[in-house]
Amino acid sequence: MERITKADDRVHRPAGPWTPTVHRLLAHLHEQGFVAAPEPIELDNTLETVSFVPGVAGEYPWTEDVASEAALVTSARMLRHYHDAAATFPLDEDADVWSQTPSTPVETVVHGDFAPYNCVYDGIAAVGIIDFDTAHPGPRVWDVASAVYRFAPFTTGAVEGANAPTLDARLSRAAEFCRAYGLDQASRSVLAPTMLASITALLTMLETEAAAGNPKFVSDLEHGHADLYRADAAYIEQHADDITRAVV
Ligand SMILES: Nc1ncnc2c1ncn2[C@@H]1O[C@H](COP(=O)(O)OP(=O)(O)O)[C@@H](O)[C@H]1O
Ligand SMILES: [Mg+2]
Repeated sequence: MERITKADDRVHRPAGPWTPTVHRLLAHLHEQGFVAAPEPIELDNTLETVSFVPGVAGEYPWTEDVASEAALVTSARMLRHYHDAAATFPLDEDADVWSQTPSTPVETVVHGDFAPYNCVYDGIAAVGIIDFDTAHPGPRVWDVASAVYRFAPFTTGAVEGANAPTLDARLSRAAEFCRAYGLDQASRSVLAPTMLASITALLTMLETEAAAGNPKFVSDLEHGHADLYRADAAYIEQHADDITRAVV
């Protein structure tokens, strides 16, 4: 059976210990008027049901629309609106369960995997944000850094060969994302190291979950994702000063 299924305007996904907290977050977003996220509908021990967000997810390989500057800019603005709405979520340290350890400073509830594949597009416009399994309290720059990694992109494996963007193109998309988000100066100065920290976190999660037998991560590991993350981290380290100069 498929892990994630769609029926009418609903999506059924596997639930985890963090899903009740995520459903409270999704309800809060809608109360704040942020309607680009799925609405929580139902939850039992194994499955969650949320509303289907109409549009097309930005899966690889990117379409021309998803690769466009407009898609980058509207995604960054959507991330800003999401963070602003999530910032007023009433945290309850005793009751909340997140899949990731909260990181400091806590400025909002970060999405944890903000990338084109977790955004939904209507043509060149980002209209939805899905897959909140990795949400957790943390600093805004955590999401912006991992988004820049995916959107610039500084992923070296996903778009290689003749279509690989030049370093200059990646740097200018990184700066454009920060501008459209409205990222503050202090966060910009730590963007490159935060990108590296987020890749380290991805590697740790991949290796821990695969070792525990989580089928999604076992498959990712078999497909060489750990080596890809290491290659990306090396590429970012090599160009960290260029990245900082481009965004500060
Ligand atoms: N609420 C939703 N609205 C629209 N599409 C969804 C929704 N949830 C999942 N999808 C679709 O299913 C795909 C995988 O779902 P996602 O929630 O990202 O899980 P995962 O990344 O863990 O596989 C998405 O890329 C998207 O195409
Ligand atoms: Mg996803």
